[in-house]
Amino acid sequence: MADPERIQTPTTLPEDDFERSLRPQGLDDFVGQDAVKAQLAVSLEAAVAREEALDHVLLAGPPGLGKTSLAQIIAAELGAPFIQTAGPALERKGDVAAFLTALEPGSVFFVDEIHRLPRALEETFYPAMEDRRLPITVGQGAGARVVTLDLPPFTLIGATTRAGLLTTPLRDRFGIQHRLDPYSELELGQIVRRSARILGVDIDDGGAHAISARSRGTPRVANRLLKRVRDFAEVRAAGHISSDVADAALDLLEVDHQGLDRLDRAILLVICEKFGGGPVGLSTLAIGVGEEQDTIEDVYEPYLLQMGLIQRTPRGRVATVRAWEHLGLAPPPSALGLF
Ligand SMILES: Nc1ncnc2c1ncn2[C@@H]1O[C@H](COP(=O)(O)OP(=O)(O)OP(=O)(O)O)[C@@H](O)[C@H]1O
Ligand SMILES: [Mg+2]
Repeated sequence: MADPERIQTPTTLPEDDFERSLRPQGLDDFVGQDAVKAQLAVSLEAAVAREEALDHVLLAGPPGLGKTSLAQIIAAELGAPFIQTAGPALERKGDVAAFLTALEPGSVFFVDEIHRLPRALEETFYPAMEDRRLPITVGQGAGARVVTLDLPPFTLIGATTRAGLLTTPLRDRFGIQHRLDPYSELELGQIVRRSARILGVDIDDGGAHAISARSRGTPRVANRLLKRVRDFAEVRAAGHISSDVADAALDLLEVDHQGLDRLDRAILLVICEKFGGGPVGLSTLAIGVGEEQDTIEDVYEPYLLQMGLIQRTPRGRVATVRAWEHLGLAPPPSALGLF
């Protein structure tokens, strides 16, 4: 069997202390996503009252909206151990078996990026999720036989930025499914103020508002901008973050008023200037801006789509009139014809 030490190495970027310190610890700390929280609270209470493991949970949504945080909160609310891995870290059936057989009863087993789980391994999860059974093959060749192990009750929490890539059989085995949506400026303002409190940063409402307005609906971005603005405030404004200080810092960071950063604008520029507004295929676009396709699709595109700056068509990405206007360029007749 594979060495669990090796498997537990996260394939996602290591989390820094900063992000960890700002993670909400309970449902009450978790700002926004009110419908999801209300529904989860009921599921959690019912599971605790019945002394059963919570149904398996699928959390979908763009990066940085709180999937990992929510998974940890679920474990904390259940008072259950939290075991974490990621789809790409599970390569062989033995990797999955190592995790599943080591679970304590009631554990939360968190599989991040579950859409990147190798297809061949999905079938290992089906009986484990449905009947808490794990059939494993012992021995080789003619002497090989299948032994079925019983697993303790557990809750699988899958997180994905790309729910569409999950196969239907896998998706259907999650009894609880939630999608996290981008946050409102008001909610992001709350998150910024909460983070500032934890970090001991001096910020007023105007400062919090200026940061949340440029955080593209994403708590992780809000926290990251807060950190950068804090640096600026300490060096240039005696540590106090007002709206003027935040605006000056964000201008310096080249985060514009709509929250677009350099790469967002580079994407729009490539579509508009090099390809006359599109359509442009994703791979061409990726080369054009010097970034990975996955990053563009997972991190940048959702916001550009949400802001109505680009459209996805079967032939590729197209810039909307708004994109031309945002760049201060005159839209060609073809862009105007889109609407
Ligand atoms: N609802 C929230 N309230 C307060 N802070 C939040 C909330 N959601 C996210 N955060 C903050 O944003 C950071 C990123 O959240 P998290 O790591 O949970 O996102 P994620 O959806 O798992 O992202 P990824 O897809 O990249 O794994 C957290 O460290 C936390 O500080
Ligand atoms: Mg995460």
